[in-house]
Parts: sequence; structure tokens; C-alpha cells
Amino acid sequence: MIEKTLNYIRNYYRNEFSGHDFQHSERVYKTAIELAKEEGADAEIVALASLLHDVDDRKLSPLTYNEKTNARSFLLSLNLNLGYIERIIRIIKEVEYLGIDSVKPTTIEGMCVQDADRLDALGAIGIARAFAYGGSHNRKMYDKNDHPKLNMTREEYVNHKDGNTINHFYEKLLSLKDLMNTKSGKIEAERRTQYMLGFLEEFKKETD
Ligand code: ADP
Ligand code: NI
Repeated sequence: MIEKTLNYIRNYYRNEFSGHDFQHSERVYKTAIELAKEEGADAEIVALASLLHDVDDRKLSPLTYNEKTNARSFLLSLNLNLGYIERIIRIIKEVEYLGIDSVKPTTIEGMCVQDADRLDALGAIGIARAFAYGGSHNRKMYDKNDHPKLNMTREEYVNHKDGNTINHFYEKLLSLKDLMNTKSGKIEAERRTQYMLGFLEEFKKETD
């Protein structure tokens, strides 16, 4: 089942280079499985939900976003029962970051997937992804005259199109460590955030 899912997402992301790519899903899967082991969560559900968590992403696939149609159709093709599929879809729906309207997952499996997804927005890989995303959306890298918009609601976050990538660190990335669910997720988020703070300090020194 995992092999089939890996093949499905490898093909799904074949032309995607905006920071949401096959490798992102693969890393989230590996990290989520590690967290699942420590938390005693169901590894199979965590594996399927983490591999499929972005195939109906709001930005990548707006038409399937609400119903999570891509994930649903794929899971049906694995002949899984409907109740089991709904458990996976719920995890995928709860993963998303939506400013101050983000939700805390209702299951330990969801917590592992959400933490793994958020860890991938932090540290060296998080910095790389933020600039890849900014570049692919024609955003400025930085702008001293543009101040970060903090504590955005779901509505504001989704419609925030004129930001720059350095501000995104203050608007989202630096707040993730306080939203982690699992014990080792928190520790790793703290470590990756420290690394990003060092990067921001150096960036400021070089550009100011
Ligand atoms: P995820 O798939 O990790 O939930 P998103 O869908 O929010 O994350 O975005 C994918 C990647 O792009 C993340 O690393 C995120 O931090 C980055 N990103 C999202 N929005 C912006 C932005 N406005 N500017 C720069 N990077 C962004
Ligand atoms: Ni993701």
C-alpha cells in the first residue's frame, strides 16, 4: 500500500517545484513515522495521511481542496473501507496551517502528521522551501519598508498575497514551535527555530 502511494505521489508531483514536491511529502512521511513510534500512534494511518496530506492542497489543487477528492479517490482505489478513509481525510483536513485559526488535531495520528509537516517548514529545509515558494509566487525576498502582519486569521492568511519571504518567517515560521503537539516534535522545532533565528540575524547584518 505504501509503495503504491509513493508511486502515486511521485507521479502527482512530477512538475511541481514550489517547495511542495514529492520530496516534501516523503520527508513528512519519514518524520511522521518516527513521531508515531514514539507516541504509540497507528503507523499505517500516519503513513497514508502524511504521504497524501498535500495532494488536495488549497494552492496546488483548489478544485479538490474542500472534498479532498484526490486523496479520497486514491484511497478508494486501495479498496480501503469508508470509515478508515474518513479517518485519514480528517487528519489531512486538520493538518493545514491557517494563522490563528489553525486547529489542533483531534487524534494522536493527526498530531504526528501535523508536527512532521510543520517541522519541514523549519530549519535549513524550511529556509530553502520558503525562498523556493516565494520565488515561484513572484514575491520579493525582503523589503525593509514592509512590516510583518502578525496573528493573521484564516481569511487574512489565505488572502495575504503581497508579503515578502523574510516577513513570512515572522508571520508563520517562528510561531510554529509553540504550536507543536508531540514531545520530540517540540524539541526538534525548538532546535530548527534557533537555526533560523541565526540565519535571520546574519541576513539582517548582510542586507542592512
Ligand atoms: P505546508 O505544506 O508545509 O503546510 P504551506 O502550504 O503553507 O506549507 O507552504 C509550503 C512552503 O512554502 C512552506 O515551507 C511555507 O513556509 C512556504 N510558504 C508558504 N507561504 C509562504 C509565503 N507567503 N512566503 C514564503 N514562503 C511561504
Ligand atoms: Ni505539507
